[in-house]
Amino acid sequence: MRRRNFLAGAGAATIASGTRMAVAANSQNAIPLLPVLDSASEPEGRIKLDLRIGAHDFGTGTNSDTFGINQSYLGPVIRVKQGQTLPFEVSNYLNETATLHWHGLHIPGEVDGGPHQEIMPEQTWSPEVPITQSHSLNWYHSHTHGKTAQQVYKGLAGVMLVEDDDSLSADLPQTYGVDDFVLVLQDKDFDGQGRLNYQLTGRVFENGFKGETLVINGRIAPCKQQVPKGLIRLRILNACNARTLTLSMKEGPLTVIGSDGGFLRSSVEANELEMFAGERYEVLIDMRTFDSNALEVDLGDRERTLLSRVLGIGNPQVAVTFTQNGETGFDGSLPNQLSGLAPADPKISARQRTFRLQMYGGKDLAALAAAWGNFCGDGPMMINGQPMKMDRIDETVRHMDTEIWRISADEDPHPFHIHGCSFRILKQNGKTPPSYAQGWKDMVNVEDGWSEVLVNFKHKASEKAPFMYHCHILEHEDCGMMGQFTVS
Ligand code: C2O
Ligand code: CU
Ligand code: CU
Repeated sequence: MRRRNFLAGAGAATIASGTRMAVAANSQNAIPLLPVLDSASEPEGRIKLDLRIGAHDFGTGTNSDTFGINQSYLGPVIRVKQGQTLPFEVSNYLNETATLHWHGLHIPGEVDGGPHQEIMPEQTWSPEVPITQSHSLNWYHSHTHGKTAQQVYKGLAGVMLVEDDDSLSADLPQTYGVDDFVLVLQDKDFDGQGRLNYQLTGRVFENGFKGETLVINGRIAPCKQQVPKGLIRLRILNACNARTLTLSMKEGPLTVIGSDGGFLRSSVEANELEMFAGERYEVLIDMRTFDSNALEVDLGDRERTLLSRVLGIGNPQVAVTFTQNGETGFDGSLPNQLSGLAPADPKISARQRTFRLQMYGGKDLAALAAAWGNFCGDGPMMINGQPMKMDRIDETVRHMDTEIWRISADEDPHPFHIHGCSFRILKQNGKTPPSYAQGWKDMVNVEDGWSEVLVNFKHKASEKAPFMYHCHILEHEDCGMMGQFTVS
């Protein structure tokens, strides 16, 4: 089957459809290339995704118990094209119930893969997923009620690239593994034997899991990547359970060209790119000006980062060192016109809704929240006073309406996500968002002050298969900081 054309070996991968084909040089410590499951050519038969128990070496020399999708850890990069309908076949070979949610896709509720679409062990879920949206950087991950954090941490996640005619013909690097890389960034902890560790302490319940070790595509950083002299494109996902990552280059700025839901209007230079858990950005780095440069990632808690910024002492670590290999690469210009993205117009909003994210539900609600399948430490977390409940619909939205959703939080950053749509951020914590966050998004940070998004609901979701909105700190989501809405 053409679709399943992915290579198992690390260090080599191909994109077979489209015009360019490449095999990457296999050098030690290079960015591990996630295999590409290419559906951008016409799919024949069903696209199989197998959720499996794995044994995976993150680079400690010891295998860890993991979950993977068609492999030992994480899943393939699924590459699809606007206009296709994808006949997935997701089989659960784990010993526990799982789900697979398409984060960022504009699709109807029944195929969204949220907590209502459980796949029991040995069962197969076969949704037909219509790709109507344009170029975007999406992902897929477990969304099992009360278990999302553990399952994603173990590896149930992957990247899904949606391409369209414009993105495929855009004057941008797109030779996978040569000048176009997918980076799945995660923070992990390893025990004394080098095995993956996930311990649920009270602190983890409260703040979400934060590991001390940066992992890229399932391998401990840093990587050393040889690249041609030219522009290099990075499609980056923060797949941490909870951590905010701050990205920068050792020399010069990052050039951001796209956010979660598509290209920006024009490229934006940023010295620092802040990525909340669940966010995606596409960036370019120019390897014509430097023989060597490095992508750096700061794992620091935001509080610490803020202080260190004031004091001028960042704490970034090298994630990837890029070194020119002398070959001629993609020699285009840095794009100043990427899309026809218009400024967000709040006047088209039909109504406004308000959401308050709350962390301390108290002992009284704890038993109830647990009975509803939430997974918590001392007390539940809530939105508008309610922990998540699978058979309660919290909001009903009219199909095709545009609305303003205003979100606020008690304290601490909460990256808020809405299913089934993309939105524009009007305000992030009371302020205009950074330029790189002014395009299509499905995540907004909520910390202090109101965050406001302008969102349009193009796809329906029934009471049996409603959409979710939630904090993307996965331990918060599991603990009840989630709600449900229908679109009809
Ligand atoms: Cu990334 Cu409700 O999900
Ligand atoms: Cu989602
Ligand atoms: Cu949260």
